[in-house]
Amino acid sequence: KPPPPLYYPPFPTGEQLPLVSANNSWRFPSSFWWGVASAAYQVEGAVKDEGRGPSVWDVLTHRVTGYTVANQTGDIADNHYYLYKQDIARIAAIGVKAYSFSISWSRVLPFGSGTVNEQALAHYEDMIDTCIQYGVEPVVTLYHWDTPLILQNLYGGWLSEEIVPDFVEYARIVFERFGSKVNKWVTVNEPLVFCNQYPLPDGYFAPTTIPKAQQPYFCGQSVILAHSQAYRLGKQILPANATISFKTNGGYKIPLTNSSADAQAVQRAWDFNEGWFADPIFLTGDYPTSLQQYVSTFLRSFTGEEKQQINGSCDIFMHDAYTAQFYFAPDAGTDACLANTSNTLYPSCANSSYSYALSDNSWNVGPAADPGAPWLHLTTDWVPAFLHYIQDTWKPRGGIAVSEFGFAEPFEGSKKLLADIRSDLYRTAYYRTYMQAILIAISEGVNVVGSLAWSFVDNLEWSSGYTVKFGMQYVNFTTQERFYKASFFEHVNAFKVYGS
Ligand code: NOJ
Repeated sequence: KPPPPLYYPPFPTGEQLPLVSANNSWRFPSSFWWGVASAAYQVEGAVKDEGRGPSVWDVLTHRVTGYTVANQTGDIADNHYYLYKQDIARIAAIGVKAYSFSISWSRVLPFGSGTVNEQALAHYEDMIDTCIQYGVEPVVTLYHWDTPLILQNLYGGWLSEEIVPDFVEYARIVFERFGSKVNKWVTVNEPLVFCNQYPLPDGYFAPTTIPKAQQPYFCGQSVILAHSQAYRLGKQILPANATISFKTNGGYKIPLTNSSADAQAVQRAWDFNEGWFADPIFLTGDYPTSLQQYVSTFLRSFTGEEKQQINGSCDIFMHDAYTAQFYFAPDAGTDACLANTSNTLYPSCANSSYSYALSDNSWNVGPAADPGAPWLHLTTDWVPAFLHYIQDTWKPRGGIAVSEFGFAEPFEGSKKLLADIRSDLYRTAYYRTYMQAILIAISEGVNVVGSLAWSFVDNLEWSSGYTVKFGMQYVNFTTQERFYKASFFEHVNAFKVYGS
């Protein structure tokens, strides 16, 4: 079945984008919080400074040839470790209300567990204080993929449940230290992505006996246990109004045709992406039935006590929702595909394709309703449907936050003039329509409580290095100067127009 043709709309230079119309009843509720996001390894740099221990990403970028584009590393990145004061000042100056960042576990505990590095705690405390001084609410993530190297080599990192007490101890240290200053917490970022990064490349980390195909599921198991224990502990330590959440990710899933095989492929895709984590945490304390059915040999079942601990262990459904994708059943037939239980990369037997390659990393932002003006419909078609789906399926008691969304402007990396880089028309249109999409969902009764744009600066886009740019600020990586792009003003403007 061929996917729909690639569609790349020409953006008319110089033409003015249609203005946001204020003649409707769309309003963000007064409690709505919004801001910008980053993650430690992608922006901090200073990887050898102030007692930081190495993480798995230092090995992946330094030793595994070609793991990142041109072997680019986070050694310097945005130098945010030292420039955070001015970065927070620039965020505040443009009017942003919240800054979401992650703490580096291997800074706080250079050996993964045991000795605590006071310098690191003092650093993050000053970051938090700086946010508060500027009137920017800190949103803090404990783990954004930078596993302390020693834990990977001692017991296989997330492959082993030995990580659970180590993570919970790390969470305790951070909760106790910053609990009186931080109100919104995230335990773990996008486990779908880092668990599917297992197996790690051979020969660079201590070997494991767990078969490669099973490794993502071992990782997922530890993540769910570590998160839920940290959640229960946090509820004892933190003030009653603090929220502790879990951050999932995935695109909205649209069946390619109206066949029942494609509809089933879509359902399996939900199960193997969001449901893998969200079903246990929000619904049942256990995996979706289809996971139990198709990869049961890979999964250890949770005990009754664990199920109780897991079920309900999240306040806000935080979801990173950048894209929409079409899903379809495999050519060889679903049954044949599912019978192949050693199918590692494709356990859900749901094929997916992007059909409107718009962004620089070819993530699509959704089917355009109007081919004549596709940038107007980038997200308004699927984001409301997605938010409804989350609310109806997982019924999160604390509402939904779009914890990341953003856009890699096409060809931005090859633009030569600062003025051209700063007029990022597609990203601008993306932010405008995305905020409208959230407003539509809210007006239709979805409890969307907050949003965080990725990202406030260009930064290390993991294996894509610095080639794929999500920043609402351009960064000159030689001088470390930052420059606002048009999209940043547009994003902030949405709250001026639609703020309550
Ligand atoms: C998800 C991840 O959390 C973040 O680290 C990444 O840079 C962005 N999305 C963009 O890919």
